[in-house]
Amino acid sequence: MDPAKLILEGKEYLLPVKVGTENEIGIDISNLRAASGAVTIDSGYSNTGSCLSSITFIDGEKGILQYRGYPIEELAKNSTFIEVAYLLIYGELPTNEEYQTFKKSITNHSLLHEDMKKFLEAFPYNAHPMGVLSSMVASLSAFYPELDYASDVNLNIIRLISKLKTIASFFYKKSIGQPYIYPDNKLCYTADLLHMMFALPTEEYEIPKELSDALDMVLILHADHEQNCSTSTVRMAGSSQANLFATISAGINALWGPLHGGANQEVIEMLEMIKRDNNDYKKYIELAKDKKSDFKLMGFGHRVYKNFDPRAKILKQSADAVLDKLGVNDPLLDMAKNLERIALEDNFFIEKKLYPNVDFYSGIIYKAIGIPTNMFTVMFALGRLPGWIAHWKELRDDPTTRIYRPRQIYTGATKRSFIPISKR
Ligand code: CMC
Repeated sequence: MDPAKLILEGKEYLLPVKVGTENEIGIDISNLRAASGAVTIDSGYSNTGSCLSSITFIDGEKGILQYRGYPIEELAKNSTFIEVAYLLIYGELPTNEEYQTFKKSITNHSLLHEDMKKFLEAFPYNAHPMGVLSSMVASLSAFYPELDYASDVNLNIIRLISKLKTIASFFYKKSIGQPYIYPDNKLCYTADLLHMMFALPTEEYEIPKELSDALDMVLILHADHEQNCSTSTVRMAGSSQANLFATISAGINALWGPLHGGANQEVIEMLEMIKRDNNDYKKYIELAKDKKSDFKLMGFGHRVYKNFDPRAKILKQSADAVLDKLGVNDPLLDMAKNLERIALEDNFFIEKKLYPNVDFYSGIIYKAIGIPTNMFTVMFALGRLPGWIAHWKELRDDPTTRIYRPRQIYTGATKRSFIPISKR
C-alpha cells in the first residue's frame, strides 16, 4: 500500500503503512518524531496500534472475535478453557499428546508453597479479593524467581495458571471462615476450582457437571481481548523485562477498575439496587442519559464493539440455559433483559452505539453457580490469565521489542525561578 502523506508546517512526510492479515490498516509513525520533531496525541489510545500481534482479532463494527483465527462461538461450543489457554499461549490448538501433557502439568503444580498461606492469613477477611490476588501473584516471584528467561518461562507459566485458582479459592475460604480445601488432581481445572471453593472437609461434595461446564465456557469467553486496559498494562510492565509474576500482578490491578473487569460486580450491584427501588429500571435508564448525573448503565458500552459484543450474545443465551438446567429462577435475569430491551430501543443508546458487553450477563451466571459478587472480577482474572500470558510471551519473544515509553505534550508552567518559602 502507498505510504500516507503528512504535511506539517508546509513540509511533507511520507509515513509507511502496515496492513494486517485481516486488512486492518495502520500508519507507521515510528520515525515521525525523528524526522519532524512532532509526536501524535491520542487520548485514551482510541486510534493507536501499540504493537503488531498475532493472538486475537476483533472487528468491533461486525462483532467478530477470534483467538488465533478461531471464532469465539466455535471455541465456546467445542473447546475447553485449558485447550484455549494452550492455543493462545503457544499459537496452535494442541495435539492430543500436547494437550494431555499441558493439562497434567497444570494439575501437578496447583499446590501453594505452605509459607504463602501465611500471607493469606494476614489479610483482613473482608479485603477485596482482587487486591489479595495481585499481591499473592507478585509474591510468587519470591518463591519462583526468574533466573533465566529462556529456561524458566514455561514452568513459571504453568505454575501461574495452576496456582491462581488455588490462591483465589483459598482466599474465598478464608473470607468466610472455612478451612482451605486442597486441590484434587483427579479433577479438571474448573471442577477443581469449584471443589476448592465449595467443598467442606466434613462431607462429600459432588460437582454438578452443568456448573463446571458453564464456568469453563465463561472463562473461554474472557480468555483474551487484544489490547484492552489490563493487557496493555501487562505489555507496558513486561516491556521493562519485569518478570512474569510482577507483570501479571500489574494486569490484575488494572482489571480491577469498574470501567474494566470490575464492571461485572457493579452490574449485579446495580441490578440489585434497581430491584430494591421497586424494579424501576426506566428511572435508571433516564439517569444514565442525564449528563448531570454520574450514573452509568454498568455492563453497557465498549470502546471497540459498536454493533454487538459477541461474548454478551453467547452469555445471554447461556444464562437462560444455565439457570434452566440448575433450576434457578433469578428475577435479576428478567430485569437485565428488560433493561437491555428498553435501552436498545432508546435513541440515546442507539446513537452512541451502546450495547451490553461481556460483563452484563456474566454476573448472572456466576451468581447461579454460587460465586459471591466480590469474587466476580477474580473469575474474570482467572479467565483473562492465558491472554495476558500470551501477550507477555509475544512481547518477550520478539527481538524488536523496546521498552514502552510514550511521549507527551507538556502544558504546565514554563521555566520560572524558585521562590524561598518565606517569600511565598
Ligand atoms: N451508560 C451511559 N452512557 C454511556 C455508557 C454507559 N454504560 N457508556 C458510554 N456512555 C456514553 C458516554 O457518556 C459518552 O457520552 P458523550 O459522547 O455524550 O460524552 C459516550 O457514551 C461514549 O462513551 P465513552 O465513555 O467516551 O466511551 P469509551 O470508549 O471511552 O468507554 C467504556 C468505554 C466501556 C469504559 C464505557 O462504555 C463505560 O464506562 N461502560 C460502563 C462500564 C462497563 O461496562 N465496563 C466494561 C467494559 S467491557 C469488559 C472489559 O473490557 O472489561
